[in-house]
Amino acid sequence: MNSEKVIIKDLSFFYDTHQVLDNVNFSVCSNTVTALIGSSGCGKTTCLKCINRMNDLIPGHRVTGEILINEENIYDSSVNISELRRRVGMVFQKPNLFPMSIYDNIAYGLRVHGVKDKETLEEVIVRVLEDVGMWEACKDRLKSKALDLSGGQQQRLCLARALAVSPEILLMDEPTSALDPISTSKIEDLIFRLRDEYTMVIVTHNMQQASRISDMVVFFDSGSVVECSKTYDFFNSPKDERSSRYVMGRII
Ligand SMILES: Nc1ncnc2c1ncn2[C@@H]1O[C@H](COP(=O)(O)OP(=O)(O)O)[C@@H](O)[C@H]1O
Ligand SMILES: [Mg+2]
Repeated sequence: MNSEKVIIKDLSFFYDTHQVLDNVNFSVCSNTVTALIGSSGCGKTTCLKCINRMNDLIPGHRVTGEILINEENIYDSSVNISELRRRVGMVFQKPNLFPMSIYDNIAYGLRVHGVKDKETLEEVIVRVLEDVGMWEACKDRLKSKALDLSGGQQQRLCLARALAVSPEILLMDEPTSALDPISTSKIEDLIFRLRDEYTMVIVTHNMQQASRISDMVVFFDSGSVVECSKTYDFFNSPKDERSSRYVMGRII
């Protein structure tokens, strides 16, 4: 039995007076993939961003409840936010590389966290590019512009960049929705392999993707969790009528 890495307790979230999460509760076990699903606007991205406090940047927001990571509440005032974001990496819907070389995109986060030594930087760059299956394609062009890569390669480089700072948890917000089917399947394979080392939470609109790559499904409706189940159970014997309706509507 895996241990609980992230525990979300009575989490509510407001953009000014607009409440978008209402008393959300679920846990994420170590070395598993949890898929957050539900209609547009139901609060998936907001919930994901609460896990590394990305929402702190939004003026007028308010959070209540707790998120425990390794049993520590990340909303405690003593938490170091930059260290939290190192431990909890994030990949977005669209690749968001810096207008720099492939090398510098990966080195950036390491340098921010104080790694300056060239040998260490190179070691990590090779490791993460190998992890995302891009080393062969990139080894002779590390100094060329990252933005010249294809969309799928850019997204894999975003993952490599997130992995470079040795996170424990990876948050992914619809990471394949802007990609073609071949690039999508490469990212899915990658997520599947990375499970051995990382704990992942992924927002996806694609039910086939959720059923292929996740261990657990959390189904949201209007800011509340309707159901949190093992993926097989969610798709084969959903506990809630709203879950079956959603799944049927998305698959047929
Ligand atoms: N920065 C923001 N300011 C105000 N409202 C927002 C902001 N971001 C999202 N919302 C609103 O919060 C609700 C949930 O959005 P979101 O978490 O993005 O949902 P999802 O990812 O499930 O589509 C929506 O009604 C959306 O319009
Ligand atoms: Mg979203």
